[in-house]
Amino acid sequence: MRKIVIAGNWKMYKTQAETQEFLLGFLPYLEERPQGREVVLCPPFTDLNLLSKSLHGSLIQLGAQNIHWEEYGAYTGEISGPMLTEVGVRYVIVGHSERRQYFSETDATVNLRLQAAQRYGLTPILCVGETKQERDAGETEAVITSQIQKGLIDIDQDNLVIAYEPIWAIGTGDTCEATEANRVISLIRSLLSNPNVSIQYGGSVKPNNIDEIMAQPEIDGVLVGGASLEPASFGRIVNYH
Ligand code: 13P
Repeated sequence: MRKIVIAGNWKMYKTQAETQEFLLGFLPYLEERPQGREVVLCPPFTDLNLLSKSLHGSLIQLGAQNIHWEEYGAYTGEISGPMLTEVGVRYVIVGHSERRQYFSETDATVNLRLQAAQRYGLTPILCVGETKQERDAGETEAVITSQIQKGLIDIDQDNLVIAYEPIWAIGTGDTCEATEANRVISLIRSLLSNPNVSIQYGGSVKPNNIDEIMAQPEIDGVLVGGASLEPASFGRIVNYH
């Protein structure tokens, strides 16, 4: 059975005080939520401990935005699996386009981070997606196939979520057509050995397009940036119809 996973990627937003304020507004929306939807919040590292304590016993899972492949060491600015699991993290985003674009993440380092996540019992959310230029050149399928094949070397597909995030749709308000996202996600699924991997769509997901996106048969959830920062909009998204 493919699980529905609705995740908020807060990127570099929210202090602890802002996180507390968000929770006050957001938690009531979870009471309306239909069964069988996993809700995940992926805040900056400094919010993880606070969220872990505040969410104890609630139905929200905690996710991180990065993981290094070593257990510890001289890797300034990085964070390791045991540091994340100690504060109750269950998911970790790996290979987000912003990491690939601004921090020189490659398919090889993405693969190392995916392996590390699984080694420490975390569920990685592997992000893949093409640029506008690649899409216009008709390279979408080749780019996605290469990212999936290189990223998933030696990865256990029983503990994995994938997010299709076309880069041109991230933070632009220019959402990918739901049917087109469904088509690319179906291509991704054809590359996998496990048919039960949950595959999300990400890129300008908002309250006004979530119902259409989730109505697509291949789409098992969403990875939400901007709209996950506001309690009312993320509340509407987790309660999609
Ligand atoms: P937006 O929802 O702000 O477009 O961001 C998408 C994203 O990058 C989620 O990881």
